Amino acid sequence: MTKVNIPTVKLNNGLEMPVLGLGTWLGVDDKLQFLTADIPKLVEALSYAIDIGYKYLDTAHLYRVEPEIGQVLNKKIREGVIKREDVFITTKIWQHNHRESDAIQSVKDSLRRLNLDYVDQVLIHWPMSFTPEGVDEKIDYLETWRGLEKVLEMGLVKSIGVSNFNVDQLKRLLANCRVPPVVNQVEINLTLGQKELVDFCQSNKIQVVAYSPFGAMMPFRQLPDSPEPKLNNPTMLAIAKKYGKTVTQITLRYLYQRNIISIPKTITKSRLVENASIFDFNLDADDVAVIAKFDVGYRSILPVFWQDLENYPFPNERRPEKEDPPLCYRIWKNGANADID
Ligand SMILES: NC(=O)c1ccc[n+]([C@@H]2O[C@H](COP(=O)([O-])OP(=O)(O)OC[C@H]3O[C@@H](n4cnc5c(N)ncnc54)[C@H](OP(=O)(O)O)[C@@H]3O)[C@@H](O)[C@H]2O)c1
Repeated sequence: MTKVNIPTVKLNNGLEMPVLGLGTWLGVDDKLQFLTADIPKLVEALSYAIDIGYKYLDTAHLYRVEPEIGQVLNKKIREGVIKREDVFITTKIWQHNHRESDAIQSVKDSLRRLNLDYVDQVLIHWPMSFTPEGVDEKIDYLETWRGLEKVLEMGLVKSIGVSNFNVDQLKRLLANCRVPPVVNQVEINLTLGQKELVDFCQSNKIQVVAYSPFGAMMPFRQLPDSPEPKLNNPTMLAIAKKYGKTVTQITLRYLYQRNIISIPKTITKSRLVENASIFDFNLDADDVAVIAKFDVGYRSILPVFWQDLENYPFPNERRPEKEDPPLCYRIWKNGANADID
């Protein structure tokens, strides 16, 4: 069995975090139903990932796979394959749980579903808040943050951070917190470099974590206006050939050389090995410069249906004309407790 060896980075609170983890969001179909059909494959992939040396799993209340992650981890711990402290688990609280007391309860519920005593990291998934009925609650994320500071004090989590926060939101959080966030998890890939946000985070000791690191490179994310590079992009293929690597490996290596953590999701065993085999080569400055040119600020995850909510973090753009935000998305039962437990 091929083993992988993933380095770690020290966070601003001294905790070591692996620089590459496994994403666990299985996605939804076009009716916004969670794709449960892939759960058995995910369980197999998780088990294999642990066996070959993955040490960091990224999940969330929303993803509805905390029970499965917990089962796999506890089995591996029982079998002596790993110890609890060998793995780094991140989860996130959803927009329905932004009151201080709800944030604390959400973390306790995640721990119960995961069947763990603590998680290594909990994040505010998005800065906006709304009820399970889709009503904008306008709860200040500073209140939610106080809930996370409490769970940190209670020893339920080892570090706290945010996700999808923009620079202004981070500045306000840093000016008003007792404990600064260790990470900001945001979309970053070749078409969305997020230079300003990354520079701000890195100069304020906030580690950046890239979600959807492949972005519109993946066919399922491609829209008619999706920019290059796709998986078959000739420039990327030529660079990949030069280093004897794949286009996806070049992509992840590029992010690593920007000191950004990545959490590529895959439920395919060979890709688990492929995605983590990026620590044995170095992209030279010329290739880095060529790859950097793909950054056109194109976001592949753009939840325009949330853009009227207070604290929506992105510029309002690409609003579908004459279309109201679909209510089902605002309500989004996948994020609610009811059908998870
Ligand atoms: N904080 C947030 O708001 C937020 C938002 C989105 C995502 N996330 C997190 O970030 C993780 C990653 O993002 P993502 O799942 O959106 O997208 P992604 O990791 O960029 O792409 C996942 C897709 O790429 C395919 N893939 C993976 N490795 C590959 C390879 N080496 N070659 C070819 N195809 C490959 C996967 O297929 P197979 O699985 O079929 O192999 C899957 O279809 C999520 O799972 C989640 O944990 C967080």
